[in-house]
Amino acid sequence: MRCKGCQAKATVEVRHHNAAYCNDCFQDYFLKRVQHNIRAYKMFSPGDRVLLVVSGGKDSLSLWDALIRLGYQVTALYIDLGIEGYSQRSGDKCREFAAKNGTSLGTISVKEVWGLSIPEIARKTRRTPCAVCGRIKRYLFNKCALEGSFPVVATGHNLDDEAASLLGNLLHWQTGYLARQQPNLPATHPKLVKKVKPLYTLTERECLAYALIRNIPYLAEDCPYAEGATSITYKEALNHIEAASPGTKLSFLKGFLKHKGLFREYDGEVELRECSRCGQVTTEEVCSVCRLLERAQKRSAAQQK
Ligand code: AMP
Ligand code: FES
Ligand code: ZN
Repeated sequence: MRCKGCQAKATVEVRHHNAAYCNDCFQDYFLKRVQHNIRAYKMFSPGDRVLLVVSGGKDSLSLWDALIRLGYQVTALYIDLGIEGYSQRSGDKCREFAAKNGTSLGTISVKEVWGLSIPEIARKTRRTPCAVCGRIKRYLFNKCALEGSFPVVATGHNLDDEAASLLGNLLHWQTGYLARQQPNLPATHPKLVKKVKPLYTLTERECLAYALIRNIPYLAEDCPYAEGATSITYKEALNHIEAASPGTKLSFLKGFLKHKGLFREYDGEVELRECSRCGQVTTEEVCSVCRLLERAQKRSAAQQK
C-alpha cells in the first residue's frame, strides 16, 4: 500500500477514508483533522487559554501533543482520583509527557480536596465508582476552569467514545442527552465553562497510531472499574459493524449531528442557579456533588466514632 500523501510505503491504514499514510503524512492528516474540528465548531481561537484535562491515556495525551504543535495556548490538568495503583500510574504518564515537552501540568487530588478518594466516596454512598467519578470529574473540570479564568475546557473524547455514547442514548431514548450531545457544548450560565471535544471525528485506533508514532508515553491499561461497563459493550458492537462496513461509526455520528435539530424540543429550559454551599451551577438548592460528599463524609465520621 502506498501513502496517499507522498506515495512512500504506507504504515497506517485509515479504512473509513479509504486511505493509507506513511508516518509523517499520518501526523499531518491527524493535525489537520484536529484543526478542522476546532475551526468547524468554533471551539477556540489561537489567542484563547485552553484548559485541557488529561487522564494519562493515549487520547488526551495525543491531543495535548497536537494542540502544542498547532500553536494553541494549552494548560493541562490531571485529576488524581485516588484509585490505588492506577491513579499513580496515570499521573506518572502525564508528568512524563510534561517533562518531555518542557511544559507544566496542574494536578488536583480528590482525596486532598474532600478527604476521600473516588472508591471511598462510592463505597460510602453505595454508588458505582464510575457514576461518582464521572460526576466529580465534570464538577472539577468546570470549577478549575472557572477559578483559572479559562474560557474553555477540552477533553480527549474520540469518535469511538462519542459514537458509543450516541448508541447508548438512542437505545434508551435519552432524549435530553441526545439534545445536548455535541462536540462543542456552549456555556449556558456565567459560571459554566464551554466544553469541547477536538478529537470527536478521530477513532481510538487513529489516536493510538498518533501516540505510537509520536512516542507519547501513555498508560495502556483501563481503569479497574471499567470492566463490564455498558459503554464497552457498545464500542464492541460498533467495532463489529465498522469491520464489516468501514465508515459506519463516522457517518452514524456525523448524520446525528446533522439532524440534531430533531431533538431540540427535548433540550428543556431548566432554571440554573448557584449551589448554596459551593457556588457551582445546579438546578437545585444544593448541587449533587455537595450532597454526595456530605453523605460520604457523614458516613465516614460515623464509622470513625
Ligand atoms: P473517560 O471518561 O475516561 O473516557 O475520559 C474522557 C476524557 O476525560 C479524557 O480524554 C480526558 O480528557 C478526561 N479525563 C478522564 N480522566 C481524567 C482525569 N483523571 N484527569 C483529568 N482528565 C480526565
Ligand atoms: Fe473513573 Fe474509572 S476512571 S471510575
Ligand atoms: Zn455544591
